[in-house]
Amino acid sequence: MTKIAVAKGDGIGPEIMDAVLSIFEAAKVPLEYQFVDMGKWVFDKGYSNGMTPEAQQAIESLGILFKGPMETPKGKGVKSVNVTARKTWNTYANKRTFQTLHGVDTVFSKAGIPIDITIVRENIEDTYGGIEHMLTNDVALSRRFITRPGSLQVIKYAFEMAKKKGARRITCGHKANIMKLTDGLFLEVFYEVAKEYPELQSDDVIVDDLCMKLVIKPNLFDVVVLTNLQGDIVSDLCAGLVGGLGFAPSANIGDHISIFEAVHGTAPDITGKNIANPTALLLSGFGMLRHLGLMETAAMIENALLYTLESGQHTGDFGDKNTPSLNTTEFAAAIIANFGKTPHHNPKPILDNHYVTPTNFKLERNPMLESIDNNEEFIVGVDMFIESNEQPNWVAEKCLKHTMGLFKLITISNRGTQVWPTGSVFTNLVNQYRVRFESIGNVPVTQTDILELYRLLMVDFKICSTELLNMWGDKKAYSLAQGQ
Ligand code: NAI
Repeated sequence: MTKIAVAKGDGIGPEIMDAVLSIFEAAKVPLEYQFVDMGKWVFDKGYSNGMTPEAQQAIESLGILFKGPMETPKGKGVKSVNVTARKTWNTYANKRTFQTLHGVDTVFSKAGIPIDITIVRENIEDTYGGIEHMLTNDVALSRRFITRPGSLQVIKYAFEMAKKKGARRITCGHKANIMKLTDGLFLEVFYEVAKEYPELQSDDVIVDDLCMKLVIKPNLFDVVVLTNLQGDIVSDLCAGLVGGLGFAPSANIGDHISIFEAVHGTAPDITGKNIANPTALLLSGFGMLRHLGLMETAAMIENALLYTLESGQHTGDFGDKNTPSLNTTEFAAAIIANFGKTPHHNPKPILDNHYVTPTNFKLERNPMLESIDNNEEFIVGVDMFIESNEQPNWVAEKCLKHTMGLFKLITISNRGTQVWPTGSVFTNLVNQYRVRFESIGNVPVTQTDILELYRLLMVDFKICSTELLNMWGDKKAYSLAQGQ
């Protein structure tokens, strides 16, 4: 019998996990559970990552974690247990499926518009590294990492899953029109991978337009792949399309460890009342069962759930207010009572197999340390981020003294908008400028040259941060300022 790790979590976690496991037990799901200590209560005992070493060891050796929601301790410097788990174990693809459930009324179900959308969200990178600094008292900076290997992993997963699902279409959501290098890289990788899947219709939509289209015509979309933060927002939007977070399952897929959980949180307002809706966790459980190859059992329980929803039985958070709601335990019992029944709408076939075993598409060689770009790389300048309360012309005057006969001062920008050599008096200024020096004729310079420039500028400014300006062959590896 396969053994998995189970963490009941905080808040309503134990209530909904007990309900789901009672359904699994009644269905004789052939799984053995190792309950592990993880969550806010473990954090409170002094374990800063929210899990005991025994829990970590068990999850790493078993490879599957089925978890309830966990509270993020409030306070500065404290990281979310959920995000730590996803990042620590490199569960790089977050798959969230959103389907019309008959019995869960939404504007779309009432209009007869079916929804079946799978969001694949990159789960590790982007701003979720939480690498942030105050550059000055007034200016905070967040670093956003989008990497080629990281994008490749999640996008390959999305295509492979879409192919298995028999998807009509796979769409990349992005903001590459503004974030040309970061989202541009994600989009570039998307179309590189798309070439290997000519049978799938692949296209891209800018994320704001995507949100509007999802709300107006959700049935146009099938599989959508996005970077981390945009994927987080768009997947909650999709949860809203099918009835809310109570119906939003989630699978965090990695090469070695996968985590299955509901999208919603610990619901502190209803904790301990036995009224929480266990559906999202149960749907996540189906994902886990299928991931483990237990197709038949998953289909049987899912059909019982669909039948239960169709027949109008509901917990207090959804359904017809004129019929009494069931509590968590009663709702689980109703599903068990419906084992063997077939729903009228969209019964689940046994082989609903779009579950991709990650090892199938592992990158051949060490995936995370390799670059496919063999172009010659050299430094042609530097962006100095300096603190100053002075006007741009004053800043420029000081900088122009220090060009060492090697650099030219190209542009000064404030919050990304050029304010020197040209600009507008209407541009608002904060006390931090980006000053760009490029080598004359773009000849390669050394880090020692940059250090010397730094030393000279230090006399007049506090330098908050620096970024090298690299060239890859004849391609600039940095963006231009707005207006440059
Ligand atoms: P939440 O999802 O816990 O609650 C939002 C609203 O939805 C509340 O009114 C709640 O009663 C309701 N709700 C949520 N799940 C429900 C269910 N199964 N049945 C019926 N009603 C349900 O979001 P909130 O309040 O922002 O977060 C509470 C805590 O949960 C925070 O500490 C947060 O960090 C954590 N959280 C954990 C997640 C995870 O473990 N993956 C995900 C999201 C939040």
